[in-house]
Amino acid sequence: MVTTAEPLSATKPTLPRELSSDSLVDRLEAAFRQSFAVLDVTRGALERVTPDWPRVDIFRWASLCEHVARRGRPEVIEDHSPLLLLATPLPPEELSPSRIAVAVLLTEANPSPAALESAARAFGVDGKQLTQWAAGRRAWPAHAALPLATAIVESLVAQQSVSSMKNQLSEVSGQLLATFEELNLLHQMTEGLSLGRHERELLDQAVDWLAEIIASDCVVARLDGTPAHTTIAGRYTPIAADQLSEFFGRLGPQAQRRSLVLNHDRTSSPTWAYPEVREVVTAPILSNGEPIGWLGALNYRPKRGAYGGGFGAVEGSLLSSVATLIGVHAGNRDLFEQRKQLFDSAVYALTSAIDAKDPYTCGHSDRVARVAVRLAKQMGCGADELNALYLGGLLHDIGKIGIDDAVLRKPDKLTDDEYDQIKLHPTLGEQILQGVPQLAHVLPIVRHHHETWDGNGYPDRLVTDACPKLARITAVADAIDAMGSDRPYRKGMPIEEVESILRRGAGKQWDPNVVAAYFAAREDVQAICRIEREPHDLDVGRWSEGDACPLEETHT
Ligand SMILES: [Fe+2]
Ligand SMILES: [Fe+2]
Repeated sequence: MVTTAEPLSATKPTLPRELSSDSLVDRLEAAFRQSFAVLDVTRGALERVTPDWPRVDIFRWASLCEHVARRGRPEVIEDHSPLLLLATPLPPEELSPSRIAVAVLLTEANPSPAALESAARAFGVDGKQLTQWAAGRRAWPAHAALPLATAIVESLVAQQSVSSMKNQLSEVSGQLLATFEELNLLHQMTEGLSLGRHERELLDQAVDWLAEIIASDCVVARLDGTPAHTTIAGRYTPIAADQLSEFFGRLGPQAQRRSLVLNHDRTSSPTWAYPEVREVVTAPILSNGEPIGWLGALNYRPKRGAYGGGFGAVEGSLLSSVATLIGVHAGNRDLFEQRKQLFDSAVYALTSAIDAKDPYTCGHSDRVARVAVRLAKQMGCGADELNALYLGGLLHDIGKIGIDDAVLRKPDKLTDDEYDQIKLHPTLGEQILQGVPQLAHVLPIVRHHHETWDGNGYPDRLVTDACPKLARITAVADAIDAMGSDRPYRKGMPIEEVESILRRGAGKQWDPNVVAAYFAAREDVQAICRIEREPHDLDVGRWSEGDACPLEETHT
């Protein structure tokens, strides 16, 4: 009989596989102070029989044992005082899904010979042997044995559950840490993104950061191009730096398209050509869908210092994220460069248009632009002001495109009317350029480069510093180049005469601070006005001063 209130058909979940059968049997035997036999219900085999097993034929209760295994909790499957048969389910194993531990227990101390004889018959064992077996044996009545076995099973299940939760918690913590590190790295990288920053610089920094995060001997990266750029960070590089490119090539075409993880199962192949490399994780750097380089980590090395294990999806995902960021940045930078070149070309095309319109002033805009930059540097202007001045200098006379050729190219001195026409070019220039948002900051230079310090200039007769500073600087640069250059109606003045006029005009026609800047930088300025040159980048920061420029002529 089975001591249970539930029908035998009731099915409970089996014990967790992670539980140790040996551990459960050990605990039962320690608690009951006698041995338990182990029965494989599926195969119908007694796996473990100990010397104090009273030779009971357990298979008489085979179907009840099967029920116990299925119900997943200890039960008394036979009770014939002074003996009972206690069955405790064991965790399933791959080849033995239904196993139980069974013990014959004495239910009362010192039972009478008659009672023992009766129980012997009921259990199918020899009476004399049973009497010897029972002598001095501890008694376990059913009301004590069943709760004890149940408590032991539940305690072990609870311990297993706690252990399993700890493992899960540890795993989740590890994943969270990896995710945090990945997010933190990407955040740091995105903070460092700017279109002025080359992806090589970004890659160097990323490789240093990745070497801190990824448990590896080293993190390596390469950007294709001329010249190619290779960067390495870590404690040890298992391949010479000049072999890294060949190494990556040997990983095959798939490594050019997606993240790749190779661990010991692959690198232990006899065909693996790099015995020093046991584990590899790589990610390609793609820009606009095309590979432009790659990132990789070599040799998994846990932070505890021992080798073993391997790279996985976490490292692959981290490298892919960083590679994507660098690839997108490279693509954006390319796009930015293309647009910048387009813009630069448009500006130089406009400058050429001015020169074509008034050949006597050929090169004037370029020289004014660079002289203005040199003067501004002398005055301590910042990068934005220098860029605005260069662009403004190139375009300051763009309004001359709208002036009648006959007036602009007149070889003789201009009449008052003709001069009035010429005086329209600053406002015409502003009108031409004002539809271009990227040129909004140079419009004041274009409009006001003919204002004078004493307010007698045009078009707005602005006095002293009411005129924008960059326009005042351009005005001096414009005058220096105009006076020193040949004109249709006169030769260019010697430098001594130009400087004499500048001195006399300081504080009247021109801002005295700008004139002072000229005298402080006069050799550089004169060099700029003497030497031919190719167009500079519109970003002044990309070329340095002390430079030189072409020699031509102009009209102020
Ligand atoms: Fe002008
Ligand atoms: Fe000019």
